[in-house]
Amino acid sequence: MSPKTPRRIDPSNVSKSFDVHARSYDKLVGANPGYHEHLRLSAKRMGLPNGGAGLRLLDLGCGTGASTAALLDAAPHADITAVDFSAEMLAVARRKSWPSHVRFVHADAGELDTKAVHGSYDGILAAYLLRNLSDRNAALRRFRELLRPGAPLAVHEYSVRDAFRSRAVWTAVSWGVIIPMGRLRTGSADLYRYLWRSVLDFDGVEAFTGRMTAVGFEDVRVQTVPGWQQHIVHTFLGRAPGVPATADPDAPTPPEGLDLTK
Ligand SMILES: C[S@@+](CC[C@H](N)C(=O)[O-])C[C@H]1O[C@@H](n2cnc3c(N)ncnc32)[C@H](O)[C@@H]1O
Repeated sequence: MSPKTPRRIDPSNVSKSFDVHARSYDKLVGANPGYHEHLRLSAKRMGLPNGGAGLRLLDLGCGTGASTAALLDAAPHADITAVDFSAEMLAVARRKSWPSHVRFVHADAGELDTKAVHGSYDGILAAYLLRNLSDRNAALRRFRELLRPGAPLAVHEYSVRDAFRSRAVWTAVSWGVIIPMGRLRTGSADLYRYLWRSVLDFDGVEAFTGRMTAVGFEDVRVQTVPGWQQHIVHTFLGRAPGVPATADPDAPTPPEGLDLTK
């Protein structure tokens, strides 16, 4: 175990582990086939109109900016505020080239009461974040408050609890590829063992869609992604209550057969 990483990673100290792994993060996710494509798919599924012109968007748990880039791809004209509480992940993100309407904020996305995140937003993307939050209901309620009526939330997240096959594939890929590769590239497998365990512990698809509904999101639905991550990684979509959303006629429709809407 690296001397700088916490002994046991949990939501209270996970930011330190991301700090330690920030410099190798992009290389590791780059070796995961479909990682960036799936983020782009989730961002597109938000159905943001007019290339995002005039919209204010949040990317919560932005890390090194992979999900920020996906959001920018779906809404190239939007104002994007990207939030993370790992200073090192943010430092890597900030070193990349971004248009002036993208900015990065150091804050805890589980307790968003910073002045830097205020007013109402036209969409939130939270990719691989929710699993790391200790009070998910409180965080989701805060996200809902930050959204204008009818605006979309997309939670891009692993969820394997409901399907034996998904749990088995996830465990095989984790111990066969992700954990050994993480150890090889970074000298420490702690964050990747945490990833494996936290995914197994996270809500199943039914529980998480139920959670979104229980905290007040409307029109809650879920779609998976293609590749080995099918039925393992999902886009959970919902809308803040209020005015019905006006669908973007140009928004791409998901590929046939992937809609897991219940
Ligand atoms: C697996 S990375 C995903 C990064 C990025 N969204 C992506 O898709 O590549 C998870 C990120 O969430 C951040 N994170 C975890 N808990 C957080 C919290 N409470 N507030 C803000 N960021 C958090 C971590 O620091 C890390 O950068």
